Amino acid sequence: MGIAITGWGTALPDKVVTNADLEVRLDTSDQWIVDRTGIRERRVGGTTSALAIEACERALVRAGRSGDDVGLVVLATTTPDQTIPASSASIHHALGCRGGAFDLNAACAGFVYALVTVDALLQKGGGRALVVGTDTLSRVTDHDDRSTAILFGDGSGAVLLDAEAGGAGPLVLGADLGVDGSAAGLLFAEVGGTIQMEGREVFRRAVRAEIDSITKVLDTCGITPDDLALFVPHQANVRIIDAVNERLGFPSERTALVLERTGNTSAASIPLALCEAADAGRLRDGDLVLLSGFGAGMTWASAVIRWGTAAPAR
Ligand code: UT7
Repeated sequence: MGIAITGWGTALPDKVVTNADLEVRLDTSDQWIVDRTGIRERRVGGTTSALAIEACERALVRAGRSGDDVGLVVLATTTPDQTIPASSASIHHALGCRGGAFDLNAACAGFVYALVTVDALLQKGGGRALVVGTDTLSRVTDHDDRSTAILFGDGSGAVLLDAEAGGAGPLVLGADLGVDGSAAGLLFAEVGGTIQMEGREVFRRAVRAEIDSITKVLDTCGITPDDLALFVPHQANVRIIDAVNERLGFPSERTALVLERTGNTSAASIPLALCEAADAGRLRDGDLVLLSGFGAGMTWASAVIRWGTAAPAR
């Protein structure tokens, strides 16, 4: 069955926190943050449900659809608004969707996990589904801890997957999903607590996990980096992205980056960058796009998708 992304949309809170704002209350500097991470500002505020609803509404408008046309909502998040129920239930209700909804927690790899899962579900059952990656990490950040407070922001990005749009092939051409629970202690937040991270070790493992995972997916698809129109990496640190690009021999001009303006938005970071690239006209029908994320767990996920509504069969 052909699956296509027919709509996409994003949402960011209004409040901007710049590096200069952080300099005022933390022992840090704009130069350190930019040099070590690539981040200049981040957006902070809102709830996971409200941001997700806004992003999904935009995706529906772009596709010319309403909630009634959607039979599944999957929210990738580590920061649901409540422990119970799943935040996807509120999104599903607010948009007037049909069918089911569930939350998926694979941290910063969550959007790719969700996309791969939903592509498989639609292959089997048809219909349309919203896949939305949203996090409000500012709610679980220790704003007095300079090692994490400079990194995180809030945001949401959504896509509408449509199995009725006439696409001839699957959206996901190849995927690799992984987790190493023995590394859980490197990046975690207790219930009601704030994020604790061994940044240097996470950095090291992230580069290795992304390179291994991407290499696997490219091999599965029988393609090389030259065949990719765009690489959409998780936006945690520009030095991680540069290291991966260098190892893969992939040019930075074909890499989607929003990190400078959003910080690390966890499950939202890949769809934010993907949607912005689509809005900027950087994607054409048939383009091969590589998505790759990693995060707490430690999880990782990579997928090659074929962009566009007129996708030829695999
Ligand atoms: O999305 C989830 C996955 N998370 C990530 O991918 C994060 C991965 N890790 C990183 O991005 C980086 O490790 C960080 C940006 C978190 C830290 O950068 P780093 O180059 O690994 O720095 P570091 O932790 O090795 O610290 C170097 C120095 C230390 O000082 P000393 O011990 O050398 O005197 C830190 O105390 O920088 C200091 N430092 C800071 N200085 C100014 C740490 N944070 C700051 C800060 N401003 N905000």
